[in-house]
Amino acid sequence: MDTMTEGNILEVRDLTVRFMMNEGTVHAVNGVTFSLPEGKSIGIVGESGCGKTVSAYSVTQLLPKTARVSGQILFREKEGTITDIAKLPVDGKEIRRIRGQEISMIFQEPMSSLSPVHTVFNQLAEAMILFQGMTKKQARERCVELLKLVGIENAERRVDEYPFQFSGGMRQRAMIAMALARNPRILIADEPTTALDVTLQAQVLSLIQEMQDEFKLSMILITHALGVVAHMVDYIHIMYLGRVVESGPTLEIFENPKHPYTRGLLNSIPKLHGKRGQRVSSIPGAVPSAYSLPEGCVFRARCSERRSACMYEIPRRIQVGSEHYVSCCLYDGEEDQYAANA
Ligand SMILES: Nc1ncnc2c1ncn2[C@@H]1O[C@H](COP(=O)(O)OP(=O)(O)OP(=O)(O)O)[C@@H](O)[C@H]1O
Ligand SMILES: [Mg+2]
Repeated sequence: MDTMTEGNILEVRDLTVRFMMNEGTVHAVNGVTFSLPEGKSIGIVGESGCGKTVSAYSVTQLLPKTARVSGQILFREKEGTITDIAKLPVDGKEIRRIRGQEISMIFQEPMSSLSPVHTVFNQLAEAMILFQGMTKKQARERCVELLKLVGIENAERRVDEYPFQFSGGMRQRAMIAMALARNPRILIADEPTTALDVTLQAQVLSLIQEMQDEFKLSMILITHALGVVAHMVDYIHIMYLGRVVESGPTLEIFENPKHPYTRGLLNSIPKLHGKRGQRVSSIPGAVPSAYSLPEGCVFRARCSERRSACMYEIPRRIQVGSEHYVSCCLYDGEEDQYAANA
């Protein structure tokens, strides 16, 4: 029998995802572990290609057939039983139930989840009629209510329009309404604002946050920008080349970052009150190809603090605070210190 830590709604353990391609094997996710406490929010942060989307898609089994997944994805059902999503048959009834009414996703590009050939009403109402047993009339009232809630004006009229009649910002709002129409317990938002201009980005992010509060959702917010999650999530998980290299409470990550990669990401956030002309430094180099993983620490080629051990040792996950973990050779031995002081 699988067990989970009390208070967690989702636990991903040692998740590995490979893609078998003609050119070789893509090591997209390499032993990722994170948990989502019920009613809380976590941010998954890392540069492009670090495996954020692939990790998120694993949770709802939206990966293409070329993917090979191993590890556990434990989900606590309403009645308390635990389902290992990784073991569910692909496209079976169970995973469709979970996608339909337990875990909703918001994508970067709204048109990837909104159908161009159905009205907004038909798309929003589907889950309500299918899973929540509403009549068409009840579903209509709820759809209008949801569209108003996400800030769409003239909702009574717009509910019968097609997504192409909506502007970019409105589509993003409609997609959020669609995710909420399923009455989910978990919301996964994958770079929900990168396609929008800066003013809209802020509006959509605060809308997502309001909705999380209003519906008491547990949320995973995925982004490459550490600055975006600062005010939005309770915990942060920093990913690099398919691994979580550091995780902890948001304040702790900002005030006491341990991994050189986390520090690099923090230094690349433009500072609102920074000195004029102060340069924002980006991390030199690029994320290596996921076709062949480097030996030892995957970040070492870009790390200014690398040591000889980093060449061949895969860093262990070391506890450096009550909920703060880092995988980096620089902290070897600190776990014992933490335990001794705790
Ligand atoms: N369907 C696929 N087939 C083969 N490789 C894939 C597939 N999807 C993703 N990958 C590879 O897996 C790795 C992780 O990709 P992923 O999309 O999860 O990155 P990401 O962190 O979400 O990046 P971004 O910030 O650009 O969205 C990358 O090397 C990517 O090229
Ligand atoms: Mg992505």
